Amino acid sequence: MSQSRKKPNILVTGTPGTGKTTTASALVEATSLRHINIGDLVRERNLHDGWDDQLDCHIINEDLVCDELEEMMEEGGNIVDYHGCDFFPERWFDCVVVLQTENSVLYDRLTKRGYTGAKLTNNMECEIFQVLLEEAKNSYSEDIVVPLRSDTIDDMDRNVATLTDWARNWQPRC
Ligand SMILES: Nc1ncnc2c1ncn2[C@@H]1O[C@H](COP(=O)(O)OP(=O)(O)OP(=O)(O)O)[C@@H](O)[C@H]1O
Ligand SMILES: [Mg+2]
Repeated sequence: MSQSRKKPNILVTGTPGTGKTTTASALVEATSLRHINIGDLVRERNLHDGWDDQLDCHIINEDLVCDELEEMMEEGGNIVDYHGCDFFPERWFDCVVVLQTENSVLYDRLTKRGYTGAKLTNNMECEIFQVLLEEAKNSYSEDIVVPLRSDTIDDMDRNVATLTDWARNWQPRC
């Protein structure tokens, strides 16, 4: 399908704690792309159906989120940051980055944040079973899905450099 955007849209996904927000923020510094943190957007614009006490997070209203983003995504030049990827229209993204973190490193990051019990276990299982990589591969063309390791600051620097190069060289399809 042809698209009219002049700049690419990148989706940065992965298990909570793998470094989506940190990576996306660094990428914004290095490019002229705009960071859209879906969690923040949902909170700020009330794009949810209340609070899930069990999962300890908002119940995101996916339709409202997609409606809110449509215009910006058509324009292009966005980095979307979210720990899910199957409800966005496939046509929105030129690159889908799945950040991955070694289990013990992720465990330390999540416990440092104060995650315990089911929240900690659910997130660890999400990473162990590569849930986001599978979701990305099932939702987008495999040739735009890019798994990237995010264990260390060096990994992050390398990922930001790779994605900056990719964004600079991106050409609109005609
Ligand atoms: N590659 C990395 N190397 C070292 N530390 C990292 C790396 N990526 C993230 N971190 C650290 O891990 C913590 C979690 O990172 P961040 O908040 O970016 O994760 P996230 O994927 O956005 O999580 P969430 O889905 O919950 O928003 C932060 O303290 C961040 O500094
Ligand atoms: Mg985040």
